[in-house]
Amino acid sequence: VDGIGTLVILGAGGDLAKRLLLPGLGQLLDADRGHDFRLIGVGFDEMTDDEWRARVADSFAAGEATGPRARAVAGETRYLRADVTKPDDLRRILASVTGVPALYFALPPKVTIAACAALRTVGVPKGTVLGLEKPFGTDLRSAQALNRKLVTLVPETHIHRVDHFLGKSTVLNLLGLRFANRIFEQVWSSEHVERVDIRFDETLALEGRAGYYDKAGALVDMIQSHLLLVMAIVAMEPPSSLDAEDLRGAMTQVLRATRVWDGDAVTASRRARYGAGSIDGHKIPAYDKEPGVDPELATETLAEVTVGIENWRWAGVPFHLRSGKALSDKRQEVVITFKDVPHRPYGFTGNPGPACLRISLNPDSIELDLNINGEGNPFTIDRVRLDVNFAAGEMAPYGEVLHGVLSDDPTLSVRADAVEECWRIVAPVLAAWRKNDVPLDSYRAGSTGPTAWR
Ligand code: BG6
Repeated sequence: VDGIGTLVILGAGGDLAKRLLLPGLGQLLDADRGHDFRLIGVGFDEMTDDEWRARVADSFAAGEATGPRARAVAGETRYLRADVTKPDDLRRILASVTGVPALYFALPPKVTIAACAALRTVGVPKGTVLGLEKPFGTDLRSAQALNRKLVTLVPETHIHRVDHFLGKSTVLNLLGLRFANRIFEQVWSSEHVERVDIRFDETLALEGRAGYYDKAGALVDMIQSHLLLVMAIVAMEPPSSLDAEDLRGAMTQVLRATRVWDGDAVTASRRARYGAGSIDGHKIPAYDKEPGVDPELATETLAEVTVGIENWRWAGVPFHLRSGKALSDKRQEVVITFKDVPHRPYGFTGNPGPACLRISLNPDSIELDLNINGEGNPFTIDRVRLDVNFAAGEMAPYGEVLHGVLSDDPTLSVRADAVEECWRIVAPVLAAWRKNDVPLDSYRAGSTGPTAWR
């Protein structure tokens, strides 16, 4: 593609555009990575160009993007009211773009699916790039159907399934940590690793997102997408290069080998929903009392799934994935727990446990817990922590992934087969939960999870 001429955000009036996409876009413009495009916002609601421009400027300011490039784009952007599931409206949108368009679907999966079907009857200009938000489809079958549809519109390399976790600086740092140091790769296998925990606990509650979240739940919202991809980076074989083909190939290999632990979704998963409580002095209503929540759906707000990667490197190592909302702490990390030493010389006292490498996703830090003789009695083993905190990347994750979309570089976007594998991995869990084979536990908002899980 000879540079994107117009970025069209479909779903421009939504929460995602306001809170994440536009601030990221503003930062990307300020970072001046060579993009030169116009911005068009498309939404279902009426809005004047001026109202839209003010919104864009506000969101850019929220991302602290107030430089000349960001101001110029915010000053001349236009807004179109349209129903993106109607071919005529799509024609009108495409007629108003200049140069090659990037169409960014910031829409719920069902609307995206309908819009893509309508786009097929309209066709898109040569070189068009598509950006699609997660969740990609609503299950394996719908993801496969959507993938089949998309490749009839544009080639796979122009399809950017966006997962902003792949734009997180710490996730990207995993690549450097693993593949630019000789010391870790030697012990990065079932021979030396006891277990891996990938956890993303949030203190945020529903935040008015019932319309989307109540149908997704923690498993689909976080584990099916973000956490399985983080796991793929943690567990993949060293790629020969960081280009899209090599990196995404290596990640997909891991996902293809992944199954729920012991093949039993019932014993390998837990789910829970928060009840009333408080976080940082703010009262949080019970999830099922939030406006827009359908209690009948029994949506979980905390999910845990243990998976195994059935290959030579990882057979026998459990990967515990967990994410939840309205919890007491923002524990967002990858923890590699190593096996204990085969023999501890007689005479040592104290055993603080095996070495442990903790990669925190927020704030960005790496900690290595090691055993050492320490102060005092030299025959007592003490624990020390080597830690390093580092500044986050130049831009928020959305800036990084938008850079990929606008440069038509799919390295940080999720390939069709990887998305399908992620749905395949969680499918038995979704089925077991739907049949109620796994109880829906409860926890107090602001706690660490159900008491029974401790
Ligand atoms: C989003 C989920 O994809 O990721 C949210 O839909 C979640 O529920 C968010 O809060 C977490 O990512 P971040 O980068 O905002 O911490």
